[in-house]
Amino acid sequence: MTRPIILTGDRPTGKLHLGHYVGSLKNRVLLQNQDKYDMFVFLADQQALTDHAKESEMIKESIGNVALDYLSAGLDPEKSTIFIQSQIPELAELTMYYMNLVSLARLERNPTVKTEIAQKGFGESIPSGFLVYPVSQAADITAFKANLVPVGNDQKPMIEQTREIVRSFNYTYKCDVLVEPEGMYPENEAAGRLPGLDGNAKMSKSLGNGIYLSDDMDTVRKKVMSMYTDPNHIRVEDPGQIEGNMVFHYLDIFGREEDQTDIAAMKEHYQSGGLGDVKTKRYLLDILERELSPIRERRLEFAKDMGQVFAMLEKGSEKARAVAGQTLSEVKEAMGINYF
Ligand code: TRP
Repeated sequence: MTRPIILTGDRPTGKLHLGHYVGSLKNRVLLQNQDKYDMFVFLADQQALTDHAKESEMIKESIGNVALDYLSAGLDPEKSTIFIQSQIPELAELTMYYMNLVSLARLERNPTVKTEIAQKGFGESIPSGFLVYPVSQAADITAFKANLVPVGNDQKPMIEQTREIVRSFNYTYKCDVLVEPEGMYPENEAAGRLPGLDGNAKMSKSLGNGIYLSDDMDTVRKKVMSMYTDPNHIRVEDPGQIEGNMVFHYLDIFGREEDQTDIAAMKEHYQSGGLGDVKTKRYLLDILERELSPIRERRLEFAKDMGQVFAMLEKGSEKARAVAGQTLSEVKEAMGINYF
């Protein structure tokens, strides 16, 4: 019995924050530890280069940082294959073949790409690699014959485009070499998108409103103390509002089963007046630290030997390359371009 294959990845353009953690990383670790799947997790540095072509130094640094975030959150190279996209040239080769099956109009129609183009302000100078990155993403997914791809909702169009490419390839070359993947999306919208400390809809590096897995405790404390609560809750005795109050929003996401009674009592107290923000924030800090401190400790440990972290990535990349190479040779055979 072969096990279902899971593949997922991140663009290395910074360190991972709590939004990444609750939105995907935590779930990956759970999936890995079920021992039911073959897991591939990778750093999509080539995809990062499609809009950061001149920042290869930043990308390299981010590869080290994200790999540390992975390891400290519990991804285990003994159980999951962790690798770097650019070290698998087979992926670029697959991309070349798939590009011929995708029209320019189709690329321009991808809603996520459209949004990104507007956000990034490329103007008339959209890098062609950027427009094509969903095809390269299809190569990432299909090279490993992934059945399941855990991603955020913004990645739905990429999965759809991948499925189209798979069908088109198998139909065109009369084969069943490529596997149609399914997306696995966050179960509840709330955890899928963690708002920023400032109440902005999204935690993001560019908005400077995040808590990082690498932040030390003092930094986390300062950030929690600066969180957006209820601007009309001025005096402690004033009744406060829960809705839109980031402290309570985070408590709903990070509180465990055993915290629910306390949280419910605090909400009531806060709404009727008499509970100050400093108290609710201290409570949240404890809850966050319970999650973050073991991660932070492991991170400091792993960070002592970056050579070993990159050696782990090299080993993972070798393993991944063997798998992608096998798929590539099946692809070339199906296309009839296995000349020698
Ligand atoms: N586009 C994804 C993101 O921005 C990263 C990614 C690249 C990816 N290739 C992938 C995710 C393949 C899943 C599968 O988050």
